[in-house]
Amino acid sequence: MMPLKPQDNLISLSQFLIEEQLKLPYATGGFTALMSHLLYAAKIVSREVRKAGLLDNILGATQKENVQGETVMKLDDYADRIFTNALTICGHLCVMASEEQEEIIPIPEGYKCGKYTIAIDPLDGSSNIDSNVSIGTIFSIHRRLDIEAKTPGTKADLLQVGHKQRCAGYIVYGSSTMLVLSTGNGVVGFTLDPSCGEFLLSHPNMVMPETGNIYSVNEGNYNYWSPEFQNYVKHIKSLEDGKPKTARYIGSLVADFHRNLLKGGIFLYPNDTKSNKYPDGKLRLLYEVAPMAFIAEQAGGMAVTVKGERILDLTPTQLHQRSTMIVGSKKEVEQFLKFI
Ligand code: AHG
Ligand code: MN
Ligand code: MN
Repeated sequence: MMPLKPQDNLISLSQFLIEEQLKLPYATGGFTALMSHLLYAAKIVSREVRKAGLLDNILGATQKENVQGETVMKLDDYADRIFTNALTICGHLCVMASEEQEEIIPIPEGYKCGKYTIAIDPLDGSSNIDSNVSIGTIFSIHRRLDIEAKTPGTKADLLQVGHKQRCAGYIVYGSSTMLVLSTGNGVVGFTLDPSCGEFLLSHPNMVMPETGNIYSVNEGNYNYWSPEFQNYVKHIKSLEDGKPKTARYIGSLVADFHRNLLKGGIFLYPNDTKSNKYPDGKLRLLYEVAPMAFIAEQAGGMAVTVKGERILDLTPTQLHQRSTMIVGSKKEVEQFLKFI
């Protein structure tokens, strides 16, 4: 894909997707239609996020716990319903998965099954919702295993290896609402113009700087880390390489990742080695780790597990399985790999 020029910033995401579709001879428009439903849901969630705390009383927690055993915030629930309802009826999905729903989400009776699957983290950074800190949505789209089938999709259609993703992306509800996505030809970013309700091309070719001075990890977990991981973090804070790195940790993966994509840096979420809280790491492979790894690699970065495995080579076996994640600027991840 030819990187578009900044002056093309009046390109809407819908127009961008149609131009992408026209370049693919076999394209049927299904992916474009799927994305238009995703966009619609994203605008609705963005509108609610922007006015959370006002009359709708959409802040705070529900009485529910999700499959992860975490308290479901009202906005988690709301975002899950908006994305699930908008996407399952679009006619181009055969099955869906959401962080907030334990089992696979079937296509409702009477609606067409299409050739794609989507796994979604409807609201990422829930712990930050009530403090008005940036939060996001993360999604991962695959083609179903039998591309010609018209039958309902299965869990196997969702549990595919990361490098086969058709599209990975996130929406960050920050100082502006941005949608960042990759369909395997680099990374592009769109900014929502609330005055016209359109996502407009603002970052035609997002490339992650090869090095970066920012590291992003929850240091409160220091005593749970392996000695190797502790040594790595001690090293990047020391004067051994001259200047120590700068610590930045928002606690919303989308926001921490997005900042590092723009400025360079490394984000790390290792596993607990001293408790059974997160023995395999906290983040979920299907709808957090794999899509972010896809975007990172497409932007020239790297994404590995704490054992040094390439994340995009991992094949999930469970919908909500967790994984460790070290993701960011290529040279920073390579430096990490020297410590394990
Ligand atoms: P979610 O709100 O979808 O459960 O995701 C929260 C994740 C991720 O956004 C963030 O990087 C991480 O949890 C922060 O975890 P800690 O609070 O343990 O640092
Ligand atoms: Mn999340
Ligand atoms: Mn979430």
